[in-house]
Amino acid sequence: MSDSVQAIRWDGETLILLDQRLLPASVSYLTCRQAGEVATAIHEMVVRGAPAIGIAAAWGVVLSARRHAADTAAILDDMQTLAAARPTAVNLFWALARMRSLVETGADAARLEREARAIHEEDIAANRRMGELGADLIEHPCRVLTHCNAGALATGGYGTALGVIRSAHARGLIDHVYADETRPWLQGARLTAWEMVQEGIPVSLLADGAAAHLMARGLVDWVIVGSDRIAANGDVANKIGTYGLAIAARHHGVRFMVVAPTSTIDMKLADGSRIPVEDRDADELLGCAGQRVAAPGAGVWNPVFDITPASLVDAIVTERGVVHKPDAASLRALMR
Ligand code: MRU
Repeated sequence: MSDSVQAIRWDGETLILLDQRLLPASVSYLTCRQAGEVATAIHEMVVRGAPAIGIAAAWGVVLSARRHAADTAAILDDMQTLAAARPTAVNLFWALARMRSLVETGADAARLEREARAIHEEDIAANRRMGELGADLIEHPCRVLTHCNAGALATGGYGTALGVIRSAHARGLIDHVYADETRPWLQGARLTAWEMVQEGIPVSLLADGAAAHLMARGLVDWVIVGSDRIAANGDVANKIGTYGLAIAARHHGVRFMVVAPTSTIDMKLADGSRIPVEDRDADELLGCAGQRVAAPGAGVWNPVFDITPASLVDAIVTERGVVHKPDAASLRALMR
């Protein structure tokens, strides 16, 4: 499945996105012909997951260049629209910065297309490498808890956290995967469970609030998650609920692994308090699957990411290597 289902596909003229809002009930695709449509697709969660957002934005720049040819100002304008789509995943800004350096030197659409393809292919290669490095940390067959979806769907392919689970499973090191359902978008219930079932990896869903109880019962050896942005001191932004998992994991002696390519590391931010955390629409919490469930009149607080302090992380796995007990010095050494 990690190879056969593509969340993002370029057909030479248009960008084709698997509509992740509809999975697993329906496998349908959205065709983007303009950069603005890609920005809307990112904001509305058609395509989601930090690396996938960056890759989609890079292809959005290609669409813009094909439309506006040598009008650099118009392309830069479209890039601003893409950058405004979502604030937390730094991969978006990383990919746009890579494309911008070419746009500013007058690169044509064909050159930009090669760059977008490189960004996509490098991400898959990084995931495969991280899969092996992360699996190396797992000493014996284990039970893993994961949160949100950091799989093939969230990346160029193969996945970050789910890439480690895939590689470890191939080595016979995964007894069971527990997937938090991940309210409110249910990325765990809809997407992670879908990926695991298709690969024949045994998976059980649990309500987000059940995770600490699962650990207390001694049923988890590793928590393995992805990230949307890692600050220079190793603080980790990831889907809301990750911080609580890290606290519970430390309390119960469960190890906590973060898997993310170096494109997720933001050395410009000294610590996690500076990471912009996206707040999303109240309606996402007031209902479920389009059905209104909350009491009328209730207010809503809907931050969709949280920050896990580096001190709660046992290992950050990147394509350049593993950082154990991350801090500012070890991250600096990794990124040098
Ligand atoms: O809101 P989402 O679905 O884009 O959030 C995704 C996550 O939090 C993932 O864990 C993160 O982007 C890593 S994906 C490899």
